[in-house]
Amino acid sequence: MRCYLHTFFLLTLLTFLSLLYVFSQLASTLDGRDELGAGVIPGRSSQDSGHLLRKRPGLVGLRSPREELSSEKPGSISKKHGDEEARTSHVAVVACGPRLEETLTMVKSAVVLSKKPLHFYIFAEDELHNSFRVALKAWPREVQTKFTFTIYPITFPKENANEWKKLFKPCASQRLFLPLILKEVDSLLYVDTDILFLQPVEDIWALLSLFDSSHLAAMAPEHEEPRIGWYNRFARHPYYGKTGVNSGVMLMNMTRLREKYFKNDMTAVALKWEEMLMPLLQKYKLNITWGDQDLLNIIFHHNPESLYVFPCQWNYRPDHCMYGSNCAQAEREGVFILHGNRGVYHNDKQPAFQAVYKTIQKYQFGENLETSLLKPLEAALQSAAHTYCGRASPLFTKRLKESIRSVQQR
Ligand SMILES: *[C@@H]1O[C@H](CO)[C@@H](O)[C@H](O)[C@H]1NC(C)=O
Ligand SMILES: *[C@@H]1O[C@H](CO)[C@@H](O)[C@H](O)[C@H]1NC(C)=O
Repeated sequence: MRCYLHTFFLLTLLTFLSLLYVFSQLASTLDGRDELGAGVIPGRSSQDSGHLLRKRPGLVGLRSPREELSSEKPGSISKKHGDEEARTSHVAVVACGPRLEETLTMVKSAVVLSKKPLHFYIFAEDELHNSFRVALKAWPREVQTKFTFTIYPITFPKENANEWKKLFKPCASQRLFLPLILKEVDSLLYVDTDILFLQPVEDIWALLSLFDSSHLAAMAPEHEEPRIGWYNRFARHPYYGKTGVNSGVMLMNMTRLREKYFKNDMTAVALKWEEMLMPLLQKYKLNITWGDQDLLNIIFHHNPESLYVFPCQWNYRPDHCMYGSNCAQAEREGVFILHGNRGVYHNDKQPAFQAVYKTIQKYQFGENLETSLLKPLEAALQSAAHTYCGRASPLFTKRLKESIRSVQQR
Protein backbone atom coordinates (compact mmCIF):
# COMPACT_ATOMS: atom_id res chain seq x y z
CA MET A 1 0.00 0.00 0.00
CA ARG A 2 2.75 2.40 1.00
CA CYS A 3 4.62 1.48 -2.12
CA TYR A 4 1.53 2.21 -4.28
CA LEU A 5 1.01 5.54 -2.63
CA HIS A 6 4.64 6.39 -3.22
CA THR A 7 4.41 5.51 -6.94
CA PHE A 8 1.13 7.38 -7.26
CA PHE A 9 2.69 10.45 -5.72
CA LEU A 10 5.70 10.26 -7.99
CA LEU A 11 3.53 9.84 -11.08
CA THR A 12 1.40 12.83 -10.13
CA LEU A 13 4.50 14.91 -9.62
CA LEU A 14 5.89 13.86 -13.00
CA THR A 15 2.61 14.63 -14.76
CA PHE A 16 2.48 18.01 -13.08
CA LEU A 17 6.05 18.80 -14.07
CA SER A 18 5.57 17.79 -17.69
CA LEU A 19 2.36 19.81 -17.90
CA LEU A 20 4.26 22.77 -16.49
CA TYR A 21 6.92 22.31 -19.15
CA VAL A 22 4.37 22.10 -21.95
CA PHE A 23 2.64 25.24 -20.72
CA SER A 24 5.84 27.21 -20.42
CA GLN A 25 6.81 26.26 -23.97
CA LEU A 26 3.37 27.21 -25.22
CA ALA A 27 3.51 30.50 -23.36
CA SER A 28 6.85 31.44 -24.82
CA THR A 29 5.69 30.59 -28.35
CA LEU A 30 2.60 32.71 -27.89
CA ASP A 31 4.71 35.44 -26.43
CA GLY A 32 7.00 35.35 -29.41
CA ARG A 33 4.09 35.39 -31.83
CA ASP A 34 2.58 38.29 -29.99
CA GLU A 35 5.81 40.24 -30.30
CA LEU A 36 6.07 39.46 -33.96
CA GLY A 37 2.48 40.40 -34.58
CA ALA A 38 2.73 43.69 -32.77
CA GLY A 39 5.85 44.62 -34.64
CA VAL A 40 8.03 46.77 -32.50
CA ILE A 41 7.39 47.04 -28.80
CA PRO A 42 7.67 50.52 -27.34
CA GLY A 43 10.92 50.84 -25.50
CA ARG A 44 12.71 48.39 -27.72
CA SER A 45 15.03 49.70 -30.34
CA SER A 46 14.34 48.80 -33.94
CA GLN A 47 17.46 46.70 -33.77
CA ASP A 48 15.74 44.40 -31.26
CA SER A 49 12.68 44.20 -33.43
CA GLY A 50 14.95 43.35 -36.30
CA HIS A 51 16.09 40.30 -34.38
CA LEU A 52 12.52 39.36 -33.66
CA LEU A 53 11.57 39.75 -37.27
CA ARG A 54 14.50 37.71 -38.40
CA LYS A 55 13.20 34.74 -36.39
CA ARG A 56 10.15 34.60 -38.60
CA PRO A 57 11.08 32.68 -41.73
CA GLY A 58 8.59 34.39 -44.04
CA LEU A 59 10.05 37.82 -43.37
CA VAL A 60 13.71 37.03 -43.70
CA GLY A 61 13.72 37.75 -47.40
CA LEU A 62 12.60 41.32 -46.78
CA ARG A 63 15.82 42.20 -45.04
CA SER A 64 18.81 42.34 -47.28
CA PRO A 65 22.40 42.77 -46.09
CA ARG A 66 22.13 46.36 -47.26
CA GLU A 67 19.43 47.11 -44.76
CA GLU A 68 21.32 45.40 -42.00
CA LEU A 69 23.90 48.02 -42.73
CA SER A 70 21.40 50.84 -42.84
CA SER A 71 19.73 49.73 -39.64
CA GLU A 72 22.79 50.07 -37.51
CA LYS A 73 22.28 51.43 -34.05
CA PRO A 74 23.26 55.06 -33.76
CA GLY A 75 26.05 53.96 -31.44
CA SER A 76 27.66 51.93 -34.13
CA ILE A 77 27.50 54.80 -36.59
CA SER A 78 30.24 56.48 -34.62
CA LYS A 79 32.28 53.34 -35.13
CA LYS A 80 32.10 53.96 -38.88
CA HIS A 81 35.09 55.46 -40.51
CA GLY A 82 35.63 58.68 -38.56
CA ASP A 83 35.89 60.79 -41.67
CA GLU A 84 32.60 59.49 -43.07
CA GLU A 85 30.90 60.17 -39.74
CA ALA A 86 32.25 63.72 -39.64
CA ARG A 87 30.75 64.36 -43.09
CA THR A 88 27.34 62.83 -42.28
CA SER A 89 24.25 64.93 -41.58
CA HIS A 90 21.79 63.31 -39.17
CA VAL A 91 18.12 63.95 -39.89
CA ALA A 92 15.17 62.90 -37.71
CA VAL A 93 11.50 62.85 -38.62
CA VAL A 94 8.36 61.67 -36.82
CA ALA A 95 5.74 60.12 -39.09
CA CYS A 96 2.27 59.23 -37.83
CA GLY A 97 -1.07 58.68 -39.53
CA PRO A 98 -1.20 59.31 -43.28
CA ARG A 99 2.29 60.85 -43.52
CA LEU A 100 4.19 58.02 -45.24
CA GLU A 101 4.26 59.45 -48.76
CA GLU A 102 4.99 62.97 -47.55
CA THR A 103 7.92 61.71 -45.46
CA LEU A 104 9.32 59.73 -48.38
CA THR A 105 9.12 62.85 -50.55
CA MET A 106 11.04 64.82 -47.91
CA VAL A 107 13.73 62.11 -47.81
CA LYS A 108 13.84 62.08 -51.61
CA SER A 109 14.42 65.85 -51.78
CA ALA A 110 17.27 65.50 -49.27
CA VAL A 111 18.90 62.56 -51.04
CA VAL A 112 18.64 64.05 -54.53
CA LEU A 113 20.31 67.36 -53.66
CA SER A 114 22.85 66.43 -50.96
CA LYS A 115 26.44 65.67 -51.83
CA LYS A 116 27.49 64.41 -48.40
CA PRO A 117 26.27 61.26 -46.62
CA LEU A 118 22.95 61.33 -44.76
CA HIS A 119 21.51 59.27 -41.94
CA PHE A 120 17.76 59.32 -41.28
CA TYR A 121 16.16 58.48 -37.94
CA ILE A 122 12.58 57.66 -38.86
CA PHE A 123 10.22 57.51 -35.88
CA ALA A 124 6.95 56.00 -37.03
CA GLU A 125 3.88 54.17 -35.85
CA ASP A 126 4.42 50.42 -36.01
CA GLU A 127 2.05 49.88 -38.91
CA LEU A 128 4.17 52.17 -41.10
CA HIS A 129 7.53 50.48 -40.45
CA ASN A 130 7.33 47.91 -43.16
CA SER A 131 6.07 50.35 -45.78
CA PHE A 132 9.04 52.63 -45.04
CA ARG A 133 11.50 49.76 -45.38
CA VAL A 134 9.98 48.43 -48.57
CA ALA A 135 9.76 51.89 -50.17
CA LEU A 136 13.29 52.98 -49.27
CA LYS A 137 14.80 49.69 -50.32
CA ALA A 138 13.07 49.89 -53.69
CA TRP A 139 15.15 52.98 -54.52
CA PRO A 140 18.01 52.41 -56.99
CA ARG A 141 21.29 51.09 -55.65
CA GLU A 142 23.26 54.28 -56.46
CA VAL A 143 20.69 56.30 -54.51
CA GLN A 144 20.92 53.93 -51.56
CA THR A 145 24.65 54.46 -51.29
CA LYS A 146 23.98 58.09 -50.39
CA PHE A 147 22.11 57.46 -47.16
CA THR A 148 21.43 55.08 -44.31
CA PHE A 149 18.37 54.94 -42.12
CA THR A 150 17.07 53.54 -38.84
CA ILE A 151 13.39 53.06 -38.09
CA TYR A 152 12.16 53.52 -34.53
CA PRO A 153 8.83 53.00 -32.82
CA ILE A 154 7.11 56.03 -31.32
CA THR A 155 8.25 55.74 -27.76
CA PHE A 156 9.18 57.40 -24.52
CA PRO A 157 12.49 57.13 -22.68
CA LYS A 158 12.60 53.86 -20.75
CA GLU A 159 12.90 55.66 -17.46
CA ASN A 160 9.45 56.87 -16.34
CA ALA A 161 7.82 55.62 -19.54
CA ASN A 162 4.50 55.13 -17.76
CA GLU A 163 4.49 58.58 -16.25
CA TRP A 164 5.29 60.13 -19.63
CA LYS A 165 2.48 58.15 -21.25
CA LYS A 166 -0.07 59.59 -18.85
CA LEU A 167 0.85 63.13 -19.82
CA PHE A 168 2.08 63.22 -23.39
CA LYS A 169 0.46 62.13 -26.63
CA PRO A 170 3.27 60.07 -28.12
CA CYS A 171 3.20 61.25 -31.73
CA ALA A 172 2.79 64.91 -30.96
CA SER A 173 5.57 65.11 -28.41
CA GLN A 174 8.10 62.61 -29.77
CA ARG A 175 10.60 65.26 -30.86
CA LEU A 176 10.97 66.60 -27.31
CA PHE A 177 12.26 63.18 -26.31
CA LEU A 178 14.80 62.70 -29.10
CA PRO A 179 17.75 63.84 -26.95
CA LEU A 180 16.76 61.24 -24.35
CA ILE A 181 16.04 58.40 -26.79
CA LEU A 182 19.01 58.91 -29.14
CA LYS A 183 21.46 59.13 -26.29
CA GLU A 184 24.55 58.32 -28.38
CA VAL A 185 23.77 60.91 -31.05
CA ASP A 186 25.62 64.23 -30.73
CA SER A 187 23.60 66.45 -33.05
CA LEU A 188 20.42 66.20 -35.06
CA LEU A 189 18.39 68.09 -37.62
CA TYR A 190 14.73 67.51 -36.76
CA VAL A 191 12.26 68.21 -39.57
CA ASP A 192 8.49 67.92 -39.85
CA THR A 193 7.25 65.52 -42.53
CA ASP A 194 6.02 68.46 -44.65
CA ILE A 195 9.53 69.80 -45.26
CA LEU A 196 11.17 69.82 -48.69
CA PHE A 197 14.86 70.49 -49.12
CA LEU A 198 15.66 72.83 -52.01
CA GLN A 199 19.35 72.77 -51.21
CA PRO A 200 21.77 70.23 -49.77
CA VAL A 201 21.16 69.13 -46.17
CA GLU A 202 24.86 69.68 -45.38
CA ASP A 203 24.31 73.44 -45.76
CA ILE A 204 21.91 73.65 -42.81
CA TRP A 205 24.04 71.10 -40.95
CA ALA A 206 26.97 73.52 -41.29
CA LEU A 207 25.10 76.06 -39.14
CA LEU A 208 25.98 73.88 -36.13
CA SER A 209 29.52 75.12 -36.46
CA LEU A 210 28.31 78.72 -36.17
CA PHE A 211 26.91 78.06 -32.69
CA ASP A 212 28.65 80.02 -29.96
CA SER A 213 29.40 78.24 -26.69
CA SER A 214 25.91 78.81 -25.25
CA HIS A 215 23.82 77.80 -28.30
CA LEU A 216 22.28 74.36 -28.23
CA ALA A 217 19.44 74.58 -30.74
CA ALA A 218 18.52 76.61 -33.82
CA MET A 219 15.12 77.51 -35.28
CA ALA A 220 13.52 80.18 -37.48
CA PRO A 221 11.07 82.82 -36.23
CA GLU A 222 7.40 81.82 -36.35
CA HIS A 223 6.61 85.07 -38.12
CA GLU A 224 8.39 87.93 -39.82
CA GLU A 225 5.41 90.22 -39.62
CA PRO A 226 4.07 90.80 -36.08
CA ARG A 227 0.73 92.04 -37.46
CA ILE A 228 -0.09 88.52 -38.61
CA GLY A 229 1.89 86.76 -35.87
CA TRP A 230 0.12 84.12 -33.82
CA TYR A 231 2.04 84.06 -30.54
CA ASN A 232 2.17 87.82 -30.09
CA ARG A 233 -1.57 88.08 -30.64
CA PHE A 234 -3.02 84.92 -29.09
CA ALA A 235 -0.59 82.93 -26.92
CA ARG A 236 -1.47 82.39 -23.27
CA HIS A 237 2.06 81.39 -22.33
CA PRO A 238 5.57 82.84 -22.67
CA TYR A 239 7.23 82.53 -26.09
CA TYR A 240 10.60 83.31 -27.64
CA GLY A 241 11.38 86.78 -28.94
CA LYS A 242 8.91 89.03 -30.75
CA THR A 243 6.84 86.43 -32.58
CA GLY A 244 7.94 83.04 -31.23
CA VAL A 245 9.86 80.34 -33.09
CA ASN A 246 8.70 77.59 -35.45
CA SER A 247 9.91 74.10 -34.64
CA GLY A 248 9.30 72.49 -38.05
CA VAL A 249 13.01 72.74 -38.84
CA MET A 250 15.14 72.45 -35.71
CA LEU A 251 18.85 71.87 -35.36
CA MET A 252 19.94 70.50 -32.03
CA ASN A 253 23.29 69.90 -30.42
CA MET A 254 21.87 67.18 -28.20
CA THR A 255 25.10 66.70 -26.27
CA ARG A 256 24.65 70.23 -24.97
CA LEU A 257 20.91 69.83 -24.55
CA ARG A 258 21.49 66.84 -22.27
CA GLU A 259 24.13 68.67 -20.23
CA LYS A 260 22.44 72.04 -19.79
CA TYR A 261 20.60 73.19 -16.68
CA PHE A 262 17.65 75.28 -17.90
CA LYS A 263 16.21 78.34 -16.21
CA ASN A 264 12.45 77.96 -15.85
CA ASP A 265 9.36 79.42 -14.23
CA MET A 266 8.50 76.35 -12.15
CA THR A 267 11.29 76.23 -9.59
CA ALA A 268 14.10 78.53 -8.50
CA VAL A 269 16.67 75.90 -9.43
CA ALA A 270 17.72 75.22 -12.99
CA LEU A 271 16.55 71.86 -14.36
CA LYS A 272 17.91 69.36 -16.82
CA TRP A 273 15.93 68.69 -20.01
CA GLU A 274 14.40 65.46 -18.75
CA GLU A 275 13.51 66.98 -15.38
CA MET A 276 11.84 69.96 -16.95
CA LEU A 277 9.44 68.43 -19.49
CA MET A 278 6.91 66.93 -17.12
CA PRO A 279 6.42 69.93 -14.79
CA LEU A 280 6.36 72.18 -17.84
CA LEU A 281 3.53 70.27 -19.46
CA GLN A 282 1.64 70.05 -16.19
CA LYS A 283 1.86 73.78 -15.70
CA TYR A 284 0.92 74.78 -19.24
CA LYS A 285 -1.22 71.96 -20.58
CA LEU A 286 -4.42 74.01 -20.45
CA ASN A 287 -2.83 76.99 -22.17
CA ILE A 288 -0.93 75.50 -25.10
CA THR A 289 -2.33 75.25 -28.62
CA TRP A 290 0.47 73.95 -30.83
CA GLY A 291 1.74 71.25 -28.49
CA ASP A 292 5.46 70.72 -28.26
CA GLN A 293 6.27 73.84 -30.30
CA ASP A 294 4.66 75.90 -27.54
CA LEU A 295 6.74 74.10 -24.90
CA LEU A 296 9.90 74.84 -26.89
CA ASN A 297 8.87 78.48 -27.03
CA ILE A 298 8.42 78.58 -23.25
CA ILE A 299 11.81 76.91 -22.71
CA PHE A 300 13.69 79.33 -24.97
CA HIS A 301 11.80 82.30 -23.59
CA HIS A 302 13.59 81.58 -20.31
CA ASN A 303 16.89 80.58 -21.95
CA PRO A 304 17.18 82.91 -24.95
CA GLU A 305 20.99 82.72 -25.01
CA SER A 306 20.73 79.01 -25.86
CA LEU A 307 18.90 79.53 -29.15
CA TYR A 308 20.52 80.36 -32.47
CA VAL A 309 17.89 81.94 -34.71
CA PHE A 310 18.36 81.29 -38.40
CA PRO A 311 16.55 83.33 -41.05
CA CYS A 312 13.19 82.50 -42.62
CA GLN A 313 14.48 81.01 -45.90
CA TRP A 314 15.48 77.89 -43.90
CA ASN A 315 11.85 77.32 -42.94
CA TYR A 316 9.72 79.02 -45.59
CA ARG A 317 5.97 78.69 -45.01
CA PRO A 318 2.78 80.02 -46.63
CA ASP A 319 2.80 82.76 -43.97
CA HIS A 320 5.84 84.20 -45.72
CA CYS A 321 3.97 84.91 -48.94
CA MET A 322 0.21 84.42 -48.62
CA TYR A 323 -0.48 88.09 -47.78
CA GLY A 324 2.49 89.36 -49.74
CA SER A 325 6.16 88.49 -49.49
CA ASN A 326 7.65 89.18 -46.06
CA CYS A 327 10.78 87.02 -45.90
CA ALA A 328 13.50 89.43 -46.98
CA GLN A 329 16.31 86.86 -46.93
CA ALA A 330 14.38 84.56 -49.28
CA GLU A 331 13.90 87.46 -51.66
CA ARG A 332 17.63 87.93 -51.82
CA GLU A 333 18.84 84.32 -51.81
CA GLY A 334 15.82 82.18 -52.60
CA VAL A 335 14.04 79.57 -50.46
CA PHE A 336 16.38 76.96 -48.93
CA ILE A 337 13.84 74.74 -47.15
CA LEU A 338 10.14 74.76 -47.96
CA HIS A 339 7.64 73.97 -45.19
CA GLY A 340 4.15 73.21 -46.45
CA ASN A 341 2.33 73.42 -43.14
CA ARG A 342 -1.48 73.47 -42.78
CA GLY A 343 -1.69 70.67 -45.34
CA VAL A 344 -0.96 72.92 -48.34
CA TYR A 345 0.76 70.13 -50.30
CA HIS A 346 -2.51 68.22 -50.31
CA ASN A 347 -5.16 70.89 -50.81
CA ASP A 348 -5.63 73.67 -53.36
CA LYS A 349 -5.12 76.61 -51.03
CA GLN A 350 -1.50 77.31 -52.02
CA PRO A 351 -0.92 75.93 -55.53
CA ALA A 352 2.71 77.11 -55.54
CA PHE A 353 3.53 74.92 -52.52
CA GLN A 354 1.57 72.04 -53.99
CA ALA A 355 3.46 72.38 -57.28
CA VAL A 356 6.82 71.90 -55.55
CA TYR A 357 5.57 68.86 -53.65
CA LYS A 358 3.93 67.20 -56.64
CA THR A 359 6.93 67.77 -58.90
CA ILE A 360 9.40 66.25 -56.43
CA GLN A 361 6.99 63.39 -55.73
CA LYS A 362 6.70 62.60 -59.44
CA TYR A 363 10.43 62.90 -60.15
CA GLN A 364 12.04 59.49 -60.72
CA PHE A 365 15.59 58.86 -59.56
CA GLY A 366 18.06 58.90 -62.42
CA GLU A 367 16.07 61.31 -64.57
CA ASN A 368 17.75 64.54 -65.55
CA LEU A 369 17.16 67.07 -62.75
CA GLU A 370 17.03 70.02 -65.11
CA THR A 371 14.49 68.61 -67.57
CA SER A 372 12.51 66.34 -65.24
CA LEU A 373 12.43 68.45 -62.07
CA LEU A 374 13.27 72.10 -62.66
CA LYS A 375 11.44 72.62 -65.98
CA PRO A 376 8.19 70.88 -64.95
CA LEU A 377 8.28 72.81 -61.67
CA GLU A 378 8.67 76.15 -63.43
CA ALA A 379 5.76 75.26 -65.68
CA ALA A 380 3.58 74.21 -62.73
CA LEU A 381 4.42 77.39 -60.83
CA GLN A 382 3.16 79.45 -63.78
CA SER A 383 -0.34 78.21 -63.08
CA ALA A 384 -0.10 79.51 -59.51
CA ALA A 385 0.58 83.05 -60.68
CA HIS A 386 -2.88 84.23 -59.55
CA THR A 387 -1.88 83.79 -55.87
CA TYR A 388 0.52 85.86 -53.78
CA CYS A 389 2.73 82.82 -53.17
CA GLY A 390 2.62 82.02 -56.87
CA ARG A 391 3.93 85.49 -57.63
CA ALA A 392 6.80 84.85 -55.21
CA SER A 393 7.55 81.59 -57.00
CA PRO A 394 10.87 82.67 -58.58
CA LEU A 395 12.11 82.45 -54.97
CA PHE A 396 11.00 78.80 -54.89
CA THR A 397 13.32 77.85 -57.76
CA LYS A 398 16.20 80.29 -57.29
CA ARG A 399 18.18 78.15 -54.84
CA LEU A 400 16.93 74.87 -56.30
CA LYS A 401 18.46 75.86 -59.65
CA GLU A 402 21.86 76.39 -58.03
CA SER A 403 21.54 73.17 -56.04
CA ILE A 404 20.76 71.19 -59.19
CA ARG A 405 23.73 72.69 -61.06
CA SER A 406 26.06 71.84 -58.24
CA VAL A 407 24.91 68.19 -57.99
CA GLN A 408 25.16 67.78 -61.77
CA GLN A 409 28.71 69.10 -61.81
CA ARG A 410 29.89 66.34 -59.50
C1 LIG B 1 -3.25 80.38 -18.78
O1 LIG B 1 -4.07 81.36 -19.37
C2 LIG B 1 -4.84 82.12 -18.47
C3 LIG B 1 -5.79 83.01 -19.28
O2 LIG B 1 -5.08 83.84 -20.15
C4 LIG B 1 -3.92 82.91 -17.54
O3 LIG B 1 -4.67 83.65 -16.61
C5 LIG B 1 -3.01 81.91 -16.83
O4 LIG B 1 -2.08 82.63 -16.02
C6 LIG B 1 -2.26 81.06 -17.82
N1 LIG B 1 -1.52 80.04 -17.12
C7 LIG B 1 -0.18 80.02 -17.11
C8 LIG B 1 0.44 78.87 -16.37
O5 LIG B 1 0.50 80.86 -17.64
C1 LIG C 1 28.05 69.73 -29.74
O1 LIG C 1 28.52 70.19 -28.49
C2 LIG C 1 29.54 69.40 -27.93
C3 LIG C 1 29.82 69.91 -26.53
O2 LIG C 1 30.04 71.28 -26.54
C4 LIG C 1 30.76 69.45 -28.86
O3 LIG C 1 31.80 68.63 -28.35
C5 LIG C 1 30.34 68.96 -30.23
O4 LIG C 1 31.42 69.08 -31.14
C6 LIG C 1 29.17 69.75 -30.76
N1 LIG C 1 28.71 69.15 -32.01
C7 LIG C 1 28.73 69.78 -33.20
C8 LIG C 1 28.26 69.01 -34.39
O5 LIG C 1 29.09 70.93 -33.32
